[in-house]
Amino acid sequence: MRIGAIELEKPLALAPMEDVTDVSFRLICKELGVDLLYTEFASSSALVRDVASTTRKIRVTDIERPIAVQIFGGVEEPMDEAARVAEEACPDFIDVNCGCWVRKVVRRESGAGLLKNLAKFEAVVRAVLSGTKLPVTVKTRIGWDQDNIVILDVARMVEQLGVQALSVHCRTRSQGHSGAADWSWLEKLKQTVSIPIIGNGDINSPEDVKRMFETGCDGVMIGRGAIYNPWIFRQAKHYMATGELLPEATLSERVVLCIKHLLLSIDYKGQERGIIEFRKHYQGYFRGMRNVAKLRAELVRMTDPEEIIARLRRYEDELSSEPENVEL
Ligand SMILES: Cc1cc2nc3c(=O)[nH]c(=O)nc-3n(C[C@H](O)[C@H](O)[C@H](O)COP(=O)(O)O)c2cc1C
Repeated sequence: MRIGAIELEKPLALAPMEDVTDVSFRLICKELGVDLLYTEFASSSALVRDVASTTRKIRVTDIERPIAVQIFGGVEEPMDEAARVAEEACPDFIDVNCGCWVRKVVRRESGAGLLKNLAKFEAVVRAVLSGTKLPVTVKTRIGWDQDNIVILDVARMVEQLGVQALSVHCRTRSQGHSGAADWSWLEKLKQTVSIPIIGNGDINSPEDVKRMFETGCDGVMIGRGAIYNPWIFRQAKHYMATGELLPEATLSERVVLCIKHLLLSIDYKGQERGIIEFRKHYQGYFRGMRNVAKLRAELVRMTDPEEIIARLRRYEDELSSEPENVEL
């Protein structure tokens, strides 16, 4: 598939996730084989007002390429100007978030709120296209609710506007993040438009990746599955190439990667913020393992990296000396 000058063969993408897919996590996934990255979403009005916490979010590094800056906003907001600001961060393309389900976003008729009004959806995308020379892509959901599935209309509309790829989280806004994602829409989308379609929703294993590609979609985007298992990119590629499943990451590999990720977070954000903002990841790295709640409760009180690293190594020793690692 192609986005602008970027040519990708069956790419695996890391889904944009607020407070999760910062530069440190993106670099971890890059090392583990992800092909396509996105920043966390950035509010267009905050970008235009130069709010420091938002402009920080759209910084990208060369190692991450190809990478998109993702922006969101409604018709009342300066989407063209936001696209110009996003372009200054030098991403490879700009992605417009038309799928965020949270109330404060949809109330302003942005994110998934645009699925209720396709004229406004179109106006927002048009404004972004007019503000940048970079390729523009869109990420959305299949519709507002089960009775209002509009994804085929959306696909036709964005293709006509000149959008270069469409990522589809195969849930409705009403579903939030629960209930099954309906991948059958990916097949219908491929029959409807010729721009690349990137499928998203409920990918948790290499087998899921292979099954989603069988719908005919051009790329597969992984969200929460990558938080619990950043190795999923490497595992999925190996599985698709050979049909063989790589072993799950061991506890020792989890500890090593967690420490590496923590140190990257500190490198990019400084010690205090780097440690505090990393805290949400402990749950992901050690999900399902024995005494993880106690481990996490201790780690989130710590502010010294050496102490955190020592505690993680002790956890590995504690569990390794026990016969069984995994809580059933
Ligand atoms: C914590 C979290 C934050 C998210 N933030 C964003 C975001 O900033 N932009 C976006 O387009 N989607 C965001 N999403 C949605 C994901 O990109 C993805 O569409 C969704 O999680 C479904 O994929 P999954 O089933 O693989 O997790 C977020 C999801 C989660 C769980």
